[in-house]
Amino acid sequence: MSDGLFITFEGIDGCGKSTQIAKLSEFIKENSGDLILVREPGGTAVGEKIRGVLLDKKNDGMDPVCELLLFEAARAQIVSEIIRPALAEGRIVISDRFFDSTFAYQGYARELGEDMVEMLNSTATSGLEPDITFLLDIDPKEALVRRGQRGGETDRMEALGTSFQAKVRDGYLKLAAKSDRVVRIDASRDRDVIFEQIRGIVTDELKKRGMQG
Ligand code: TYD
Repeated sequence: MSDGLFITFEGIDGCGKSTQIAKLSEFIKENSGDLILVREPGGTAVGEKIRGVLLDKKNDGMDPVCELLLFEAARAQIVSEIIRPALAEGRIVISDRFFDSTFAYQGYARELGEDMVEMLNSTATSGLEPDITFLLDIDPKEALVRRGQRGGETDRMEALGTSFQAKVRDGYLKLAAKSDRVVRIDASRDRDVIFEQIRGIVTDELKKRGMQG
């Protein structure tokens, strides 16, 4: 385990991650001060370029293995350039998605398989794992309604539709069932109720580590 605290958020598209990440960031800044907030894919100059390629709808012929390797390439960069150095300094890092996304989207929904994804995940992260992962679990149809309310264009991954999102959700639930690190959060509830649950878990962890300011 690192000296800092590494928290990740996961879930299908439209699960409400952004809202919860914003609330938690505000809470941590008020209580412990120091926070590094990143997102995947992206978060570095190299990674943002890879993100552009991955999410561009014009690239609809992208091979699934190409897709997998690009997500991992962006990850290798953000881990070495930002996440590892921040944790080594004892800081709190929140990432909007991390390697569990690859397990659920590429490994499970794209059916590339657990073994290949696990091998590439551990290569890209050089073995780094989050301390806590919040899985915001929601029915894909409900998530679609929320995304509609949010507005804006769909990206290449979102354009894959509700049946793909349902497979992604199954992949995540499979992961949550076998990992103590992954906390399943019922994301169909009111946003403030969801946040109270997340805040409680993070507060306990900060206290345990003596990081509460
Ligand atoms: P983004 O706009 O960041 O979506 P969200 O707001 O839902 O996080 O787009 C990232 C997309 O890439 C999203 O559809 C999930 C997908 N993704 C993968 O398929 N594999 C991965 O390893 C990662 C990190 C993301």
